Amino acid sequence: MQPTDSITESSEWSETDRKCMRRALELASRGSGLVSPSPLVGCVIVDLEGNLAGEGFYVYDKLKHAETLALEQAGERARGGTAYVSLEPHSHHSRTPPCTDALINAGINRVVAPIEDPNPEVSGRGFAHLREAGVETATGLMASEAERLNEKYMHFIRKNLPFVHLKLACSLDGKIATRTGDSRWVAGEEARARAHHLRHEYDAIMVGTGTALADNPLLTDRSGKERRRPLVRIVLDERLQLGPNSKLALTAEEAPVLVFTSKEADDAAAAKLSMRGVEVFRVDGGSRNLRAVLEEIGRRSLQSILLEGGGKIAGAFLDAGLVNKATFFIAPIIIGGLDAPSAVAGKGAERMADAIRLRDVEIIPRGQDIEVTGYPRRTDEEETRRHGDAATRR
Ligand SMILES: NC(=O)c1ccc[n+]([C@@H]2O[C@H](COP(=O)([O-])OP(=O)(O)OC[C@H]3O[C@@H](n4cnc5c(N)ncnc54)[C@H](OP(=O)(O)O)[C@@H]3O)[C@@H](O)[C@H]2O)c1
Repeated sequence: MQPTDSITESSEWSETDRKCMRRALELASRGSGLVSPSPLVGCVIVDLEGNLAGEGFYVYDKLKHAETLALEQAGERARGGTAYVSLEPHSHHSRTPPCTDALINAGINRVVAPIEDPNPEVSGRGFAHLREAGVETATGLMASEAERLNEKYMHFIRKNLPFVHLKLACSLDGKIATRTGDSRWVAGEEARARAHHLRHEYDAIMVGTGTALADNPLLTDRSGKERRRPLVRIVLDERLQLGPNSKLALTAEEAPVLVFTSKEADDAAAAKLSMRGVEVFRVDGGSRNLRAVLEEIGRRSLQSILLEGGGKIAGAFLDAGLVNKATFFIAPIIIGGLDAPSAVAGKGAERMADAIRLRDVEIIPRGQDIEVTGYPRRTDEEETRRHGDAATRR
C-alpha cells in the first residue's frame, strides 16, 4: 500500500517540473545522517532551454547549501533558468549567506519549492524575498513527499519536541520475546539490516531498563553509512539498574550514553556509571515523566529518536500520545505463552474504537517478515494545518 497524498497539487505542473522536483527530493535524501539539526535539502537548476545545468544537496559540515552548490555547477547557464529546491530557500544570514540572494544574483527566473520551511526565521520570508526581486515562485508540487522527507525536522521545529519513531519486531501472536526473555532473534536478517538503516536516520536511540538488562545491547548504528554526529544511546532507567559493566557503559567513551532516572536514584550507582562516561540525568518526576525526558533531549538539539522498546516503554509512549511514527516487523513465528511479553504493554485501549489506527500505512516484505509502517492517527490540529497547506502558485 502506498502513502496517501492528502495535499492537492496543481494540474499545471509540467513533466519537467515533476521530474526535476523528484530529482531534488532524491538529492536531498542523500544528506541523511549528515544534516541534523538542519533539514535535508536538494536543488536542481534547469537552464532556459529546459536542460539540466546544475544540482546539489546539503551536508551540514560542508557549509554550502544545496542551492549554492547547484548554482556553482550551472554558472552562467543559471541566468533565466528555473531552480527546483526541496524546501523553501532561506533569506536570513545564518552559518551561510542567504540562498535567496544567491538565486537572485545568479539571475534565476523561477523557483519551485514544495513547502515552506517552518523555521520562524525562514517561514514564508524566503519566498517573499524572491518575489520582491521579481522571481516567480511556485509551491505545492510533491508537497507530501517533501514534508515526509523532513518529517523529523518539521516536527521538531513545530512542536519543540523530538520526533519519536517506535520500532519493534514481533511474532504473529504479537510477542517480542519468549517467557524467559529470549528475543534473539524475532525477525530475520533482512528485517534486522533494515533496522540498522533506520538507526542511521535518527539522532538518538532509546530503550527501557527491561531491555537494557535482558539483552545487554550495544545500540549502535551498524548501517555502514557515514554520520555527522554519533547516535546517542538513551536508557529510561527509573531505579538506575544499568550496570557499569554493561556493553552500553563499557562503550560510553566511544558513543554517548544518556540515562534518565529519578531524583532519588542511588548516588553510588550513578557515580559508577559516570566513571565510565555515562551521563546520568535526574528528571523531575523521574523517567516516567516522558514529556520532561523529551524536552531535555530536545534541549540537546537531538531532533529524532528511534524507540526500540521494550513493551512497557512502547506502551508508556503510546498511552501518552507521544509516538509520531511506528514500524513493526512481523515474523511468521508463533511464540505463545501467557507470560511472554507483548509488543505493547501500558494501559492500552478500552474499546476497539479507541485502538490506535495508523494512517499512510506502508507494507513491505522483508525476506520472510513483513514491515508495517504508519503514523498514529493525526490530531485535529494537524489535520487542519495540512489541509490549510493546499497548493498555491504565486
Ligand atoms: N522484539 C523486539 O523488538 C524487542 C525490543 C526490545 C525489547 N525486547 C524484549 O522485551 C523485553 C523487555 O521488555 P520490558 O517491557 O520488560 O522492558 P522495557 O520496556 O525495556 O523496560 C521497562 C522498564 O523500564 C523502566 N522505565 C523507566 N522509565 C519508564 C517509563 N517512562 N515507562 C515505563 N517503564 C519505564 C521501568 O523500570 P522499573 O520497573 O524499575 O521502574 C520498566 O520496568 C526483553 O525480553 C527484551 O528482550 C524485544
